[in-house]
This record gives sequence, C-alpha cells and structure tokens, in this order.
Amino acid sequence: MKDTESLIRQLVADVQKRVPAPGRAIAAVSGGIDSTVAGLVSHRALDQRLECLFVDTGLLRASEPDRVATVFHEAGLPFRLVDGRRLFLDRLRGVTDPEKKRKAIGAAFIELFEQEAAGSGAEYLVQGTIAPDWIESGGSLRDTIKSHHNVGGLPENMKLKVVEPLRDLYKDEVRSLAASLHVPSAQRQPFPGPGLAVRILGEVTEERVATLQRATTIVEETIERAVARGEMKSPWQYFAVLLPLKSTGVMGDVRSYRETVAIRMVESTDAMTASAMHPPYEVLREISEKITRELSDRINRVVYDITDKPPATIEWE
Ligand code: XMP
Repeated sequence: MKDTESLIRQLVADVQKRVPAPGRAIAAVSGGIDSTVAGLVSHRALDQRLECLFVDTGLLRASEPDRVATVFHEAGLPFRLVDGRRLFLDRLRGVTDPEKKRKAIGAAFIELFEQEAAGSGAEYLVQGTIAPDWIESGGSLRDTIKSHHNVGGLPENMKLKVVEPLRDLYKDEVRSLAASLHVPSAQRQPFPGPGLAVRILGEVTEERVATLQRATTIVEETIERAVARGEMKSPWQYFAVLLPLKSTGVMGDVRSYRETVAIRMVESTDAMTASAMHPPYEVLREISEKITRELSDRINRVVYDITDKPPATIEWE
C-alpha cells in the first residue's frame, strides 16, 4: 500500500479534476468510515464548493444521529442534517424483496439529494463507495450478490454526476486513511448504508425498526461490556437481525406467538470473506435474556447465526 499521505494527496487531486471549478458538489455522509473519509478528502479538494449532507433515514441505530454529529465535529467536517424519516418509510411500505428494498433505498437517497442539489446548484454527488461495494453489486462482469444502495441501487435517470474517490480501495486501506485523517470512527464496526432495513427481513415498519433498534443496542452494549472485561475480543461486526419468522413461546403460563431475533458476530479483514465468531456462551445467553425480557411483546426467540461468508453474506439481505 502507498504511504497514506501521498495517497490522500492523489485522491484530493483526483476529486479536483472530477469536479472542475466553479462546480459544486454535495457529499452523502453517513458517519461511517468510508463516507467520512470520502467527505474529508473532497472537503480538502473543494472546500466551500462542497456541502456534506447526513440523512436521518429513520433506519439508523438508536443513538446514531448524535454519535454521527460528534464524529463529524471531531473530524472537522461541516455537515447539514436532512430529515428523511417519513420519505424512507413511505418508499419501503409493502416492499419485502431484498433487492427491491435496496433499490427503493438507493432511489429515496437520490430523490432527497436531487432536491437538495436543486437548492444549492450542485451538479456532483460524492459517495464513499469502496471496491467491495461495486464488486458485489455486479461490477466488473461479476454476478450481483447484492445491490449496495450507493451502486446498484442508484436510479438510471439520476441527474447528479457521481464522484467516488475511494472506489478502488479496500476497507483496510480506508481504515489507514481514516487514522491519518483523525477520523474518530476508525475503529468502529461498519454499518451498512441502507441501515437497519437490510437487517429487517420482510416489511420495514416503524414498529419493527423500533424493535430492531432496541435489540441492536442490547447486542452492542452486551458485547462491548464483555470486550471491556476481557472476556472476548471485539468482533469485526456484531448486530441483531429481525426475522419475520413467528414461533410459539410461553410466558408464565400464557402462550405467545412472536417474531425471532438472530444474532450475528463475525471476524473479517475486508468483508469479502468472514467467519462466524465463537463468543462465550454466557454473552449469548445474556443477550437472549435481555432481548426476550425487554421486547417480550414482540420477540420470544433468539438464535445465533453460525454461518461463514461464503456461503452466507455478512448482512442477511
Ligand atoms: P455483505 O453482507 O455483502 O457485507 O457480506 C459486506 C460488508 O458491507 C456492508 N454492507 C454495506 N455497506 N452499503 C454499505 O455501505 C450497503 O448497501 C451494504 N451492504 C452491506 C456490510 O455491513 C459488511 O460490512
């Protein structure tokens, strides 16, 4: 890998070439490492000609908007929050097919960005796409594994010209850039652009998002506490998935018939392959007890996903 400073200079020059003055751009930033690095590189390149937009899709983890604001603040990246909660829920109503869901999310992002760009006169859209995103979205003559919202999920007739400074880089390279750009999220686990929607199998509704948000917080907090106590190493990614699969349970002496939460913890270096982790059993049990207790009106069963990638993918959709 090239040394990171010269790589950053090269990326900055590339953005300047792709967005010639006085052209204006908007950058879609999610607080994740890829789009934050893409935003910072583009900000260096374009300065006042760039506006960074962070969309609250309503599909974020519980404390995400606050956490993301802190990341941008610490990284020195100016941004504007756009409220897309109603739009995303509307566009996802009745959609259950994973690829249709991803495309609907990609289209909703572009709908919002085009509205915003019309206001500022921007013609370019900077995205944090990295190599595995377009490889798995069917780039380079490969089969489409899944349409990443920022690649295969883009509508064909979009007006904004897409600029992807990190397109040829892999996650470990982006992590080195992030460290050198002082991005505080450099060591955080990745979170997919389509958010909790690809972890909610079946229809995405406000209630099901709220259920998964709570289960996600329980998983993250329980694992992070076990890691802090030295009981396990931090997984590459760890999260909950909400399944539309109902099964019979019993509470006291009353029958229940509720949905299922699956727990996923994987180790990986670049997300192209991953292995399911063997966490301490006590950690899994604590997660299961908390989820079934706190979400007893919606969930009565918790399962652990022991599948590697391949043959599975990391996310369930
Ligand atoms: P999969 O599920 O394909 O995920 O094994 C590989 C890595 O990519 C993340 N992921 C996404 N990231 N937009 C993103 O920005 C997406 O559409 C998307 N889909 C999956 C996933 O969390 C994992 O780290």
